[in-house]
Amino acid sequence: MAGVRITGLSKRYVIGKEAFFALEKMNLFIEDGSFTAIVGKSGCGKTTLLRLLCGLEEKTSGDIKFINRGSESNGSDEMRIGIMFQEPRLMPWLTIRENIAFSLFPKQKEIKKDADRHLQTLGLELFKDAYPWQISGGMAQRTALGRALYYDPDIILMDEPFGALDYFTRKKLQNEMVSLFLNQKKTFVFVTHDIEEAVYLSEKVIVLEAGRIVQELPVELPYPRKTNSPEFLNITEGIYKAIIA
Ligand SMILES: Nc1ncnc2c1ncn2[C@@H]1O[C@H](COP(=O)(O)OP(=O)(O)OP(=O)(O)O)[C@@H](O)[C@H]1O
Ligand SMILES: [Mg+2]
Repeated sequence: MAGVRITGLSKRYVIGKEAFFALEKMNLFIEDGSFTAIVGKSGCGKTTLLRLLCGLEEKTSGDIKFINRGSESNGSDEMRIGIMFQEPRLMPWLTIRENIAFSLFPKQKEIKKDADRHLQTLGLELFKDAYPWQISGGMAQRTALGRALYYDPDIILMDEPFGALDYFTRKKLQNEMVSLFLNQKKTFVFVTHDIEEAVYLSEKVIVLEAGRIVQELPVELPYPRKTNSPEFLNITEGIYKAIIA
């Protein structure tokens, strides 16, 4: 597990002659073993934040410190980070089993792990020798989740991972996320457009607006959550208001 301390984090992009901040002076503390959801309108900087966290993008200024077992480190290189994108991004020439063991970070290749355990937990055993084009969208996202979990990451970053799935598959995977979180107690940072999903899954919802945090809302409801309970609806309504305001 690992926590993250983000201080004064900014990311400036230049498109043509225009420069703008996709993230501006962000301060955020992500607790070790917590589940944080990031919500906000399209273009508010959610993906930029995840890309900065995993080192796919260079920050313009500010600080990202990972806190792992009491010690702080600057770089994502020293951390084991699992990433899941909106689309599965599987390698078409690899089987499901090989895709799970595929590493996005060269350093991780040294670690030998057992892919079969993940195939079993994610219900993919029967399809382990299939290729990505032979499985459904939900199975493909499960494979991507297996890949994110494979190297026993300290922190898991997820960018709208269930956005393209149908309602039933999405609900099923949300419940799998909850049990994964409760059983493994890893640090999750989960980006979503779906406010109900954010409140269903997370312990804290961060609302972003034009690169800035406009609200941090703790979700102090026990798991599994009831989406029609007054407490649940009250929190989702608060977030809607923060986004619309
Ligand atoms: N590589 C880049 N070069 C220039 N501008 C970029 C780049 N990546 C992102 N941006 C800009 O930064 C802003 C934030 O983009 P980002 O992808 O973080 O938004 P988002 O909140 O993830 O949106 P969505 O919900 O649509 O995925 C946008 O205005 C986008 O155009
Ligand atoms: Mg995005």
